[in-house]
Amino acid sequence: MQSDSDSALHMIDILRKKRDGGELDARELSFVAAGAANGSIQEAELAAWLMAAWIRGLSREETRALTLAMCDSGEKSSPARLGKQAVNKHSTGGVGDKTSFLVAPLAAACGVAVPMISGRALGHTGGTLDKLEAIPGYRTALTLAEFEAVVAKCGVSMIGQTDQLAPADRRLYALRDRTGTVENPGLLCASILSKNLATGLDALVLDVKTGSGAFLRKREDCEFLAALLVATAEAAGTRTVALLTDMGQPLGRAAGNWIELVEAVELLRGQRPPWSEDLRELSLILAGWMIHLGMQAETPEAGYARAEKALLDGSALRVFLAMIEAQGGDLRVFDDPAAFHKPGATEVVAAWESGYVARMDTAALGWAVQRTGAGREKAGDPAVAHRGGDRSPSLGLEPVDPHAGILFHARLGARVERGQPFATLFATRPELLAEPVAILKRAIHFSKSPPNAVPLMSRVFTREEAEKYLQDAVR
Ligand code: URA
Repeated sequence: MQSDSDSALHMIDILRKKRDGGELDARELSFVAAGAANGSIQEAELAAWLMAAWIRGLSREETRALTLAMCDSGEKSSPARLGKQAVNKHSTGGVGDKTSFLVAPLAAACGVAVPMISGRALGHTGGTLDKLEAIPGYRTALTLAEFEAVVAKCGVSMIGQTDQLAPADRRLYALRDRTGTVENPGLLCASILSKNLATGLDALVLDVKTGSGAFLRKREDCEFLAALLVATAEAAGTRTVALLTDMGQPLGRAAGNWIELVEAVELLRGQRPPWSEDLRELSLILAGWMIHLGMQAETPEAGYARAEKALLDGSALRVFLAMIEAQGGDLRVFDDPAAFHKPGATEVVAAWESGYVARMDTAALGWAVQRTGAGREKAGDPAVAHRGGDRSPSLGLEPVDPHAGILFHARLGARVERGQPFATLFATRPELLAEPVAILKRAIHFSKSPPNAVPLMSRVFTREEAEKYLQDAVR
């Protein structure tokens, strides 16, 4: 295929070139991103291109070009006029990962502007947007002007990709979810960074998950992804760090939509249940880095201390509730969160063995959560707008059940006796319980002696470390 700068581009040529292992140039990748954003490339062609890119991989240069093209596929926000540093946190995706509900208001309460663009459930992982839409009336699809106004008023806004902001990722993200093309470093990098760069951030903190619930299972692949993300974002002018954190078990005890919000709000209300200790600690570490990069603390440790103060004095809770109200959410559901929770069916699963909880297949647990009704089963249902959420018909998104999910009553390393409650499943309908229960039982492994503890955070990648890692990496 000719791809001189004056020759016309055709999607069929571009996807065949990637299928055959060729390297795409910036012009071709801009064509893909623009066509994804404006709908001129058909879904079948985009899906085939995604699979070719997943199998063949994207070079570092292709990843950079795709990231910038996807960022440029829509408009950009410019938070500079707020007179604050704009900093965000983005995770590569996990199970029960609700840190966004804590870190965003914590950083905002400490003087950082947090324009946060999140995603929906992706593969086995939950989606911040689906969780937020459990709040009646909460709007995740704001115009750019509305988004900026909420950040100016509350210090934080949490929305999804829209037709204005990162529209290429909006379409590709939904397609990757349904075509098994999530777990690729280049596609992950372009998806995560394109929407974050479009918000005009000064700095970004990345939470790169490792372990059985991460998209990339091998430790060296997670390190490569962290380095790729940091180097790509830094080259685009955004100060960035990536923290490698453990996803060898769900974070906290709740995995679902409404039940995750409840767990986060308990912490924001100053409660400190033992089962949320890892969630609390990771949120404070991430917020500490955001506050440090946002120039409100000399070190990440000093940022941690400021974040903890904002947790204890209630200021982060006030910021979070103000944001929900500003985006149309009905705050009354937080008066009595248990009364609002109305799952269609509930089952308590008792421990089927005695012993120590030794190992969890956390990705399988994520699929179990999705199959209670908390995630999407298929594409193409009529776009029934889910509560106040994304009303765009173009993605054909199936609504998710805000009340479905799983509460885990035992964590890794815990000693359990056969018959004691191990997990409570909430499903949309009774017939949806059997499959997640079966998955859960296959995913949990017991042992006679306690397993070795795994650190919550194992490595930090700064710009220098990322560049060195990529130079050393023989790929
Ligand atoms: N978060 C994103 O925004 N995109 C991904 O591909 C994974 C996590």
